[in-house]
Amino acid sequence: MTTNPDAIKHLWTHKTQDHGWLADEDLVVDRAEGVWVWTEKGTKLLDGFAGLAVVNAGHGRREIAEAIAEQTVRLAYYPTTRQFSNRPAAELAAKLATLTPGDLDYTMFAVSGSEANERAMQMARHYWLAKGKSNKHKVISLEGGYHGATVGTFAICGLPHMTQAYAPLQPAGFAKVKPPYPFRDRGTGTDAELVERRARELREAIEKEGPDTVSAVIMEPVISSGGFVMPPIGWLTAVRKICDDLEVLMIADEVITGFGRTGRWFAVEHDGVVPDIMSVAKGITSGYIPLSAAIARRKLADAFPEDAKQENVHPNTYAAHPVACAAGLANLKIMEKDNLVANAEAMGGRLLEGLQHAVGKKTIVGEVRGRGLMVCAELVKPDGSGQPLDGAEVAKLDRKAWDRGAIVYARGQVVRLAPPLCITRDEVDKLVDIVAASIGELENELTR
Ligand SMILES: Cc1ncc(COP(=O)(O)O)c(C=O)c1O
Repeated sequence: MTTNPDAIKHLWTHKTQDHGWLADEDLVVDRAEGVWVWTEKGTKLLDGFAGLAVVNAGHGRREIAEAIAEQTVRLAYYPTTRQFSNRPAAELAAKLATLTPGDLDYTMFAVSGSEANERAMQMARHYWLAKGKSNKHKVISLEGGYHGATVGTFAICGLPHMTQAYAPLQPAGFAKVKPPYPFRDRGTGTDAELVERRARELREAIEKEGPDTVSAVIMEPVISSGGFVMPPIGWLTAVRKICDDLEVLMIADEVITGFGRTGRWFAVEHDGVVPDIMSVAKGITSGYIPLSAAIARRKLADAFPEDAKQENVHPNTYAAHPVACAAGLANLKIMEKDNLVANAEAMGGRLLEGLQHAVGKKTIVGEVRGRGLMVCAELVKPDGSGQPLDGAEVAKLDRKAWDRGAIVYARGQVVRLAPPLCITRDEVDKLVDIVAASIGELENELTR
């Protein structure tokens, strides 16, 4: 039985027309296993973007399904809003304390990545209130950064086309600064010089706002929606120092990069940096059930006395949902048992090298870059100017890859790859072949 096309029209997203070249009925995803997905019409595709860089453990893991079933029967729901807790939530929080760097030991669960960032900003605000610094409320973020689709996170979003409609609803005065974007901004200098320049701009932005009014700086270690921008190693260390110097909290948004995606458990580990708060989602359950968290350092938790009676950050109805936390525990068990973080590093290296070799010298490829299993090719005009290739041309790669049997994510100037971390060598090679053939075809069309 297939899905009725009229039923699909009831989905709000039906009008998004992200894949205008396919009918709604062709885009009904029916089942998935490992790195493969099948549409209802039977098309088999290599999932080169793990859904939305979510399904780290791979599709169809029965262990997670069984953990979900067992927990659902035992205790499907009980709130944690009034100091109740449950075993999966406590065990997952304790597990996160061992996996995350430094003394990031205190977890507040939520449901989506957006909410994790809301909680992170709220934790920061309450910390400063507890410290008697009630003016500290601003949150500085990066141009190109994306932290969620709530009105609060749109205030720190660095992608203006997404937030314009909500401008009247947003608090004013949240400065955005440029991240170090080596391919576009390195010029004739070095990466280290670029980091220094951008760090200076960040420091100046905080000083201009007034450090006594700034609560936190939030940033993705790899700027994902903004185009898989990979700041040089050293950037986060510089940010950490500025935050320490100016008494501002550092929030790392690891919603995409967390749980092995970049070849480390968390992307901040590439720099050896411990943020004050880390927000996570996606890979925490590999998407089997929604779950997210804001994880805080000891000093934040210590700002509130053990015997405090007054609530600080308000948890939502589904915070620390027992079934979601059971899914998280089962997911992390798989990641450890199957060494998926090490696999992400190894397969990410293979994907990067394979793609560099296959398309790195093509006229329309400006750069192929990667960190673990976040790999992309940035496209440029074929006239040698180095100018970004028109987004409508880049988007054609979605279809070209689909026709060859893979789902990729071509937006703006980059075609992005972030497959499940369980990907094998053969599957990496297949993905490289498909992306290379798709880019080759596009180049032929543009230079004909
Ligand atoms: C870096 C980052 N932060 C936050 C979010 C928002 O997460 P969610 O869509 O689960 O609310 C996303 C979503 O893609 C993201 O990439």
